Amino acid sequence: MTTSPTLASAKRYLLRYQQIRQWSVQLCAPLSAEDYVVQPIGDVSPPKWHLGHSTWFFENFILREQLEEYQLFDERLNWFFNSYYESQGPRILRTNRGNMTRPSTATILDYRKYVDEHLAQLLDQYQDHLPEELAQLLEIGLQHEQQHQELLITDIKYILGTNPLYPAYQQREESVDNQSFPEEWISVEAGLYQVGHQGDGFCWDNELSRHQVYLDRYALAKRVVTNGDYLAFMQDGGYERFELWQMEGIEWARQLDTKAPLYWYEQGGEWFHYTLNGLQPIDLAAPVTHVSFFEADAYARWAGHRLPTEQEWEVVCQQQHPNIPASANFVEDKNWHPIAPTSETDDQLLGNVWEWTNSAYLPYPRYPRLEGALGEYNGKFMINQMVLRGGSCATPLSHIRATYRNFFQTDKRWQFTGIRLAKDGD
Ligand SMILES: [Fe+2]
Repeated sequence: MTTSPTLASAKRYLLRYQQIRQWSVQLCAPLSAEDYVVQPIGDVSPPKWHLGHSTWFFENFILREQLEEYQLFDERLNWFFNSYYESQGPRILRTNRGNMTRPSTATILDYRKYVDEHLAQLLDQYQDHLPEELAQLLEIGLQHEQQHQELLITDIKYILGTNPLYPAYQQREESVDNQSFPEEWISVEAGLYQVGHQGDGFCWDNELSRHQVYLDRYALAKRVVTNGDYLAFMQDGGYERFELWQMEGIEWARQLDTKAPLYWYEQGGEWFHYTLNGLQPIDLAAPVTHVSFFEADAYARWAGHRLPTEQEWEVVCQQQHPNIPASANFVEDKNWHPIAPTSETDDQLLGNVWEWTNSAYLPYPRYPRLEGALGEYNGKFMINQMVLRGGSCATPLSHIRATYRNFFQTDKRWQFTGIRLAKDGD
């Protein structure tokens, strides 16, 4: 994992640290006391757990190692909030997180304050000469907190969106009558292309090393699949047509109570969906979201195309967007939901929805699996998961780039996941 040397100023880090840490607490402001605690499914952690665990990361990996005479806030919390780091000792079972009414949210907020104050104290010792190793750890801590901010939003959505009262997280009017654009394609010639991170900016280890790949000619859809497109698939019996699905996929689909994306509810013959703005009519022109890899893959087959590989996706994104476009929809926009494209050229490759690719999550050539605890961050998950690209409406803007690799198992759909089609060149 690399950081930019230009960022290695203690003052600048402290400012960024405070902004990012504050945003996590702010995201929870609309919650009731009860919302902080529950864990309706194993994948969804209680919001208060995210607030504690992201704090643990700074205490455990930075303060206890780097700040002289640092006293843990509470020794018991130091194991309580370990997520999956075997090297850091015992921890509570992931699926038990929602059974823990203590520590209370108030104690966790005190824990955050304590760690924030000590972190400021540590940075104060360095001024403009932040050691590179500390800068790297801080950067990882902040990027980690941003990942948990996205999880906070998607977990809060699950907690509220599977409640039959459909409580809104925030009330914001959604536009439901947007213009749809025709299917168009971005063609790419056959050749050798470079993929993977380059340059001085931060990246995760899984984006390394940059390497070349040969791609045959192909085309990537200029827009993502919309709710209207997906509804046509549903109305064509898409969920029942076994020939469209992988074996594991159709078995999974048969278990669904509602044969539709997560959060879709049929009322009086009409489809509605839960968004963080409450139960809403569906905007046919907006990207479909909360679909699993199985659904994305079946849809692509129904449409007569396929999902792109992660390399195909990255090559187009690098060509089209050396910088993040101003129209991209990230968490700072507070739409809390994917929005419809504004024009035919608004490809929405970045932001809006994570796009499933047909690539298994595997190490790149010369993947630098780290030694020690941080070696557990990404590398040990490189099995049985598929790669997603592009970020979503719940991703912080400063957290995403063309080479970013997200990954989930094929049945997961509580993240803002969507579909972009690809096809072979003629
Ligand atoms: Fe974590």
